[in-house]
Amino acid sequence: MVKKGTLQIALTGNAGGTGINRQLLQDVARIVFQNENVSPEGILSVSFLEKEAIRAVKKQFFHQDVYTDVIAFGYGEGERDRVWGEILICVPVAQEQAREQGHEVKEEILFLFIHGLLHLLGYRDDPEEAREIMDRRVTELFRLFTEWQWRKTLVKKAYEARNFAYAPYSHFRVGAALLGDNGEIFTGCNVENVSFGLTICAERVALGKALSVGVRTFRKLAVVSDSSRFCFPCGACRQVLFEFAPSLEVISASCSLDFQVFRLDELLPYSFRFDGDGA
Ligand code: THU
Repeated sequence: MVKKGTLQIALTGNAGGTGINRQLLQDVARIVFQNENVSPEGILSVSFLEKEAIRAVKKQFFHQDVYTDVIAFGYGEGERDRVWGEILICVPVAQEQAREQGHEVKEEILFLFIHGLLHLLGYRDDPEEAREIMDRRVTELFRLFTEWQWRKTLVKKAYEARNFAYAPYSHFRVGAALLGDNGEIFTGCNVENVSFGLTICAERVALGKALSVGVRTFRKLAVVSDSSRFCFPCGACRQVLFEFAPSLEVISASCSLDFQVFRLDELLPYSFRFDGDGA
C-alpha cells in the first residue's frame, strides 16, 4: 500500500555518467507536484533506453518509425491525485539534444522527465498550441526546481558554517550562507566578544567576506541556528543587507533544515533611507 501523497520511483536502464539518480528525480517530482497543486500517490517507473529500444516502443504503440526523446504511459492518465505509469527516456537522444541546446545532458534528462510527468498529470503536446503551453510549463518548473536546489544548498552551507560559531557567552550558534550574483557562496558564523555588544552576527560576517572580495550584488541568503525555530536575521542585519540587496531572498531555516522563504523588503518594510542633502 502506498501512503497518500507519496510517489515511489523505480529506475531501470542506464543513465550512468549523467548525474541522474533516484533521489534527484524524487526531488524534481516533488517540486513539480507542489507547483501543480497536487499531492498524488502512486508508482512511477523511469526507464533509460538506447535508441533502438525507444524506436521499437514508438513503432509498436504509436505506429511511427522514429527515434524519440521521451515517452510517457499513464495507467489512468490525467488523474491528478494518482500517478501510476512509466516514463521512458532515451539517453543518446537526450545527449544529442543537450549538445544542440548547449547545456548538460543531466539538464536535458530533467526537462524530459518533467515533460513526462506533465503528461501523466493530463497535459497534452498536440496540437501545436498545447505543445507551446507544455514547453513553457516545463521550462518554468525546471527553473523552480533550480531555485529550490539553490535554497537547499545554501541551507546546508549555513548549517555547516554554524559549526564554526564563536559563541561562548550565548551558546547560540548561527550560520549564514549568502549567494552572490556571480554564483559564489559566502558563509558566515556569529563571532561573540567578552564585551557583549561587540558581537558580530553570522549574516554580517558572510556579507563582509563577499564585500571584501568585490562582490556587491546578491540573490539569496540562508540563516540557521541551533534552534528548531526558523531563524531570521536580526533588525540590524536586515538594515545592513538592505543597503546592497533590498529584494534579497531570505531563506529562514530550522536546525532540521526545513525552511521558509521571504523577501528582505518584506522583512524590513520601512527601512531607513538617507536622502542625502541633509535638508
Ligand atoms: N545572532 C546572529 O548571528 N544573527 C542574527 O541575526 C541574530 C543573532 C547571534 C549573535 C549572538 O552571538 C547570538 O546570535 C545570540 O544573540
